[in-house]
Amino acid sequence: MKGRIVSGMRATGLLHMGHMAGALSNWVRLQDDYECYYFVADWHALTSNYADSANTAGYCYDTLLDWLSVGLDPEKCAIFIQSHVPQHAELGWALAMITPLGWLYRNPTYKEQIDNIKNKDLDTFAFLGYPVLMAADILLYRADRVPVGEDQSAHLELSREIARRFNHFYGEGLLVEPQALLTETPKVPGTDGRKMSKSYGNSLQISESPESVWNKLRTMVTDPARIKRSDPGDPNKCPVWDLHKVFNPDAAERAEIDAGCRSASIGCVDCKKKLNARIQEMMAPIHERRAKYARDRKLMDDILAHGAERARATARETMDILYPAMGLVPAFSR
Ligand code: TRP
Ligand code: SF4
Repeated sequence: MKGRIVSGMRATGLLHMGHMAGALSNWVRLQDDYECYYFVADWHALTSNYADSANTAGYCYDTLLDWLSVGLDPEKCAIFIQSHVPQHAELGWALAMITPLGWLYRNPTYKEQIDNIKNKDLDTFAFLGYPVLMAADILLYRADRVPVGEDQSAHLELSREIARRFNHFYGEGLLVEPQALLTETPKVPGTDGRKMSKSYGNSLQISESPESVWNKLRTMVTDPARIKRSDPGDPNKCPVWDLHKVFNPDAAERAEIDAGCRSASIGCVDCKKKLNARIQEMMAPIHERRAKYARDRKLMDDILAHGAERARATARETMDILYPAMGLVPAFSR
C-alpha cells in the first residue's frame, strides 16, 4: 500500500517561483509514489485575515491555478479546499479539548508573529489555536508524511505531541504521529538577492507575464563593482547570478557566464537576457496550462468537488473510529 501524504498552503494569493522551485516541485514528484492530499488552507488564512476576508475565495482559485499549472494532477492526488471538508474543523475541535494552552503560548511561531505583526489584532482564540487546526489537517488523514519547509517544524512537532496526548486519553494507535518530509530545496533568491518572499516585494510570480518578468530582471542591481561595461565583475556578489544558479539548467552556459563576467567579456544586459530566455522557456508550458484552466471555472470547480469528495471519504473513516473512542455516539449518517 502506498504511504499517505498531506500538505497545505494558506490561501493568501498568487504563488511565486520560490514556491514553485521549492515546495511545489516536491509535491509534484510525490504524487506518483504516495496517496496525496493537498488542500488550500482557507481557514488558516482567516486566522490572520479575518478582518479583511473578502478576497479569500479569489485567493483560493489563484492558489489552485498555480498548483495545476505547475503540474499537480487532480487524477493522481486529492486537491481541495480545507473548508469543503468539514471534518478538518470537527477534528480541530476534538483536539482542542486535549491541547494544553501552555503548548500554544510556547509555540515559537506564535510568539514571533505576535511580536512582529502589529497591523492586525491577532489576539484571538483561532490564531492561538492555529497549530491545533493544523494538527487536525494532518491527523485526519492519518498520514505518515508531511512535506513542509523548515519553518513548519515547530508546528509539526506540536502535531505529534497532540497526537500522542490524544492517543494517551482515548487509545494507543488511534492517531498516527506524522513525520516531516523536509523539503530539500534550493534557497530561491528574489530579485534583490534576499530570499524570495512576498513580504519583501522581490518575487517573480508563477503567473507573471513574460514582459513583466523581463522588466524585473532588466532593472535588477548587479555586482556594484561593475560600473562600466569594461569593469570585471564577481558573480558571487550578484543576485542575477543567484537566479542563474537556480533557474539556468545549462551548466556549460553558466560556466561561460561566470568566466565572462570575471573577464568583462560579457555585459550585464546579455547576462540578464540569457537568464530571461531560460525562465521564459521554463514558464511557457506552465502558462499554457494555467490559461487552459483559468478560462474554465466549471473545470476548476469540478476538480475541487471531486478532490473534496475523496478527502471526505477518508476523513469519515477516521471520524467514525474516533467518535466511539472518545465516548461519543458515532454519526454514521454523516
Ligand atoms: N501552516 C502551513 C504554512 O503556513 C500551512 C498548513 C496548514 C499546512 N495546514 C497544514 C501545511 C497541514 C502542512 C500540513 O505553510
Ligand atoms: Fe551579474 Fe551577470 Fe553582470 Fe556578472 S555579468 S555582474 S553575473 S549580471
